[in-house]
Amino acid sequence: KKVVLAYSGGLDTSIILKWLQETYACEVVTFTADLGQGEELGPAREKALLMGVKPENIFIEDLREEFVRDFVFPMFRANAVYEGIYLLGTSIARPLIAKTQIDIARKVGADAVCHGATGKGNDQVRFELGYYALEPDIRVIAPWREWSFASREALLDFAEKHQIPIAKDKRGEAPFSVDANLLHSSSEGKVLEDPSVEAPEFVYQRTIAPEDAPDKAQVFTMDFEGGDPVAIDGERLSPAALLTKLNQLGHDNGVGRLDLVENRFVGMKSRGVYETPGGTILLAAHRGIESITLDRGAMHLKDEIMPRYASLIYNGFWFSPEREMLQALIDKSQDLVTGQVRVKLYKGNVAVIGRTSPYSLYDQELVTFEEGKVAYDHRDAAGFIKLNALRLRVAAKRDRRGR
Ligand code: ARG
Ligand code: SIN
Repeated sequence: KKVVLAYSGGLDTSIILKWLQETYACEVVTFTADLGQGEELGPAREKALLMGVKPENIFIEDLREEFVRDFVFPMFRANAVYEGIYLLGTSIARPLIAKTQIDIARKVGADAVCHGATGKGNDQVRFELGYYALEPDIRVIAPWREWSFASREALLDFAEKHQIPIAKDKRGEAPFSVDANLLHSSSEGKVLEDPSVEAPEFVYQRTIAPEDAPDKAQVFTMDFEGGDPVAIDGERLSPAALLTKLNQLGHDNGVGRLDLVENRFVGMKSRGVYETPGGTILLAAHRGIESITLDRGAMHLKDEIMPRYASLIYNGFWFSPEREMLQALIDKSQDLVTGQVRVKLYKGNVAVIGRTSPYSLYDQELVTFEEGKVAYDHRDAAGFIKLNALRLRVAAKRDRRGR
């Protein structure tokens, strides 16, 4: 019996590793993903070895390019935001972790997978829907729903008993829970639990405060091809390098902070503080290039399906037929979403200040206030308005007669 554990190398997943070995007496395979969370992964290997994991059972994978190219960019083609505002930074990382974990399980012949999400949140759902969609008969172990530790204290005692190193600041309660990757950092819980109280400044880790951002605006260009960004200021970059660069620009200008209360799939409201510096810029810039390259009907249809698409990702249904159907529709719309956007950042604000495209639908001749020579006859507008007004006039007359 073998189990593949999604292992961050942190305290909680180290406890899980030990608990798995004790409870299931099974061979544990650890999988640690680099999704750009900005942590050294070397220590994860060391710690796994120390806890008796065989060297050939330790997997450390750099998934940054795949994450941005195959998950983040496809999602941004849809301009996806959950509940009007959340850029889905944690949600979109879970399917890739689940997929890689299943790949490893197949490679090593494991019959089970294990994750460290709690029993109260979205992440358990996302991981497990991913597992089952890809490997229908996989055995799933979710320690937080199974073990009998009654408190954080009991958990830490278990760690101490097994000589799992506990960082000094961890003996007390951690001030809040963090999840980070190249797209975003999220902070939830503890000092953030009261939604009436402003988040303390120390919660923010990858943006400076807008108040502290430079007094001078920063302007740069972004090139898009087929709906995806490919260059910044004319420099072509790989997907992960491009998002990294946007993150830096956003960081320096205090862009991408968000404090919200959202509806978790499992039914409760939760308060989160998110930082998505590069993603916030990308969303604005993508909408900017779409504004000149997409037909109105295409754009409005995309906007109608977007909330549905975003909920699918939030709720963990990345690997579902309906998400794939919507993706095909969205991708089709992006064929000619190619061109350049000029972006201006200033104290937490993102503004698109220019757009050009070889496929632009914007017709200056058509829209100009000067007398045009083209296919628009003012006289056509009179009938157009009259017919659109017809039912409004009929109703107004009825109302005047009294109901
Ligand atoms: N509430 C956000 C979401 O559902 C962030 C979750 C953060 N996860 C975590 N394990 N800290 O996408
Ligand atoms: C967790 O419960 O593990 C984190 C929060 C969430 O998944 O929504």
